Amino acid sequence: MFPHFIYGGDYNPDQWPEATWEEDVRLMQEAGVNLVSLGIFSWSKLEPQPGVYDFEWLDRIIDLLYAHGVSIDLATPTASPPPWLVRLDPDVLPITADGVKLGLGSRRHYCPHNATYREHAARLVTQLAQRYCHHPALALWHIDNEYACHVSECFCETSASAFRQWLQARYGTLEALNATWGTAFWSQQYGDWLEIQPPRRAPAFLNPSQVLDWQRFCSDSWLACFEDQKEILREITPNVPLTTNFMSFHKPLDYWTWAAREDIVSNDAYPDTSDPEWTIGSAMACDLIRSLGKGRPWLLMEQAATHVNWRTRNATKRPGVMRLGSYQAIARGANGVMFFQWRASQFGAEKFHSAMLPHAGTETRVWREVKTLGAELKRLDGLLASEVHAKVAILFDWENWWALEQNGKLLNDLRLLPLIKSYYTALYKQGVTTDFVHPEADLSHYRLVIAPHLYLLNDRAVHNIMQYVSNGGVLIMSFFSGIVDERDHVRLGGYPAPFQEMLGMHVEEFAPYSESQTNEIHTADGRRFSCSQWSDIIRLHDAESIADYLHDYYANTPAVTRHRFGQGVSFYVGTLLDETGLSWLLDRVVTEAKVRMSPAAPIGVELIRRSDDTQTWLFALNYSTQPVEIALDRSGRDLVTGAMVDKSIVLSPTGVAIIQSALS
Ligand code: GAL
Repeated sequence: MFPHFIYGGDYNPDQWPEATWEEDVRLMQEAGVNLVSLGIFSWSKLEPQPGVYDFEWLDRIIDLLYAHGVSIDLATPTASPPPWLVRLDPDVLPITADGVKLGLGSRRHYCPHNATYREHAARLVTQLAQRYCHHPALALWHIDNEYACHVSECFCETSASAFRQWLQARYGTLEALNATWGTAFWSQQYGDWLEIQPPRRAPAFLNPSQVLDWQRFCSDSWLACFEDQKEILREITPNVPLTTNFMSFHKPLDYWTWAAREDIVSNDAYPDTSDPEWTIGSAMACDLIRSLGKGRPWLLMEQAATHVNWRTRNATKRPGVMRLGSYQAIARGANGVMFFQWRASQFGAEKFHSAMLPHAGTETRVWREVKTLGAELKRLDGLLASEVHAKVAILFDWENWWALEQNGKLLNDLRLLPLIKSYYTALYKQGVTTDFVHPEADLSHYRLVIAPHLYLLNDRAVHNIMQYVSNGGVLIMSFFSGIVDERDHVRLGGYPAPFQEMLGMHVEEFAPYSESQTNEIHTADGRRFSCSQWSDIIRLHDAESIADYLHDYYANTPAVTRHRFGQGVSFYVGTLLDETGLSWLLDRVVTEAKVRMSPAAPIGVELIRRSDDTQTWLFALNYSTQPVEIALDRSGRDLVTGAMVDKSIVLSPTGVAIIQSALS
């Protein structure tokens, strides 16, 4: 879509006197900036009074940027409604589950169902699109900002009535709703739609099916706000691509649905690089975003040049680390890296957040690193059409996430992401690149699929997974998978009921542990590993046990099983394995599925490939503080140094190489 790698950041010229703008554009040019996200929080400046618009300052800065070779990712500034809008209609302000009305003075203070907000937002977006539709600088639309950040749900009366309408459209009759919600439990049967309320704060556990529908509804409501704007922009600027910035694994929004409506998937990523394992979580976020876009190139919309200011302690990114994180995103499929923000603010809530251009100006380490990266990215245009091809996928679904983490379970502190991350980490450490995939999506091009805590799934997903294995796929399924249908009703008959035939076993009983309890497994090949959290008490049909529990009333019964099903193989893991246990399992399965990456990465180094039809680019990122030597499986040219390399390369600490080779 863009002829070059994108480089730039959020730009807020309205925080600065116009005299600063000349310096901004000159320095942008110096840093290699070619795109800025403009005016994300400019509503009150663009429309200082209802219906009174002031676009002249924006005209001037857009022209100035364009004259300096900088295109715009023009934002619809609807994430922070101006004070006059709240004065006009105080019901714009969102209400929490406890009935507290949130106040003015920060941002994202709006209810997605409020008609005043929606009308005024639409009017402003129309004005903006009409004014700039022919401007050659307009390269991308940035709709709103981080939907469902800070405020993900509103419990006001307008929201309650929107919820009822959503339910009516979904269920048609109260009878169907009562059956789906299981209202026979605790005397919750509804006789009139008006009796239905959002799941506000209540004396005890709320109806889980109701809460699940509420979460679906809230995600859809924010999406409707996005769609309002998208419709306007599509009509006025049909050829300008659009995006809205995601927040990695952000629970309130079903990003599968969202990503399908965008032209480019973009993400904001703020890893805490003081965590020695930050690269893993950060890689996982990149892989999610690439997967949401079905493998097409994505955009790192925001990252920090060094520290943020919203953690309790905000560590800097040490020299070289911002560059490593940027290349990690590119290696994992991004065609551009951007920052929050261009110039560090002098006032406001984020004045201590880092920026490309620090308070101290250009005689700084941060500025030098920003400039160096901008210059380097200009050499990468040849990669723009390449993609990352993963052979392993982790099944990931928001509805499952919402349902799994509701209370009333056996381990009410059970969380989805830690288990996903432990599988992801084991694969990462074995050099395996992983996609995330929706349980109903086509799995046929993966050699290994992992289903961690896939508690909720509908019949289509069940069928899809079974077909995948039966056609020759390798699957690992963890405990507490296949438990309920999309209504959150238990699938009866021994867990996981729909997969018994595929797994060749069933779970008779769950044995969740107390906090201090642990157990061990011993494997068929003579290893011993500790396990925690939970044991499934498994009855084999025709599966084999490859590891048994060592202790407790179910000692010597299966903990990990393997079963041939059709042309494929399914593994089942009935407990939480420790790191070494998981790496034992993954080592075995990765070998069986033949998905090991070549060449092998030394410790502290990440190796990732992008390829197109004729060439491949091996990204080597040295996160360690030591020089490392990497054996190569093919010769090529390192795009960072320009040198030809053969057999091996040595990377300095924080070093990066991008080795371009022909595919033979
Ligand atoms: C993002 C947001 C930006 C800025 C940044 C600070 O979540 O989109 O506007 O607040 O965080 O890290």
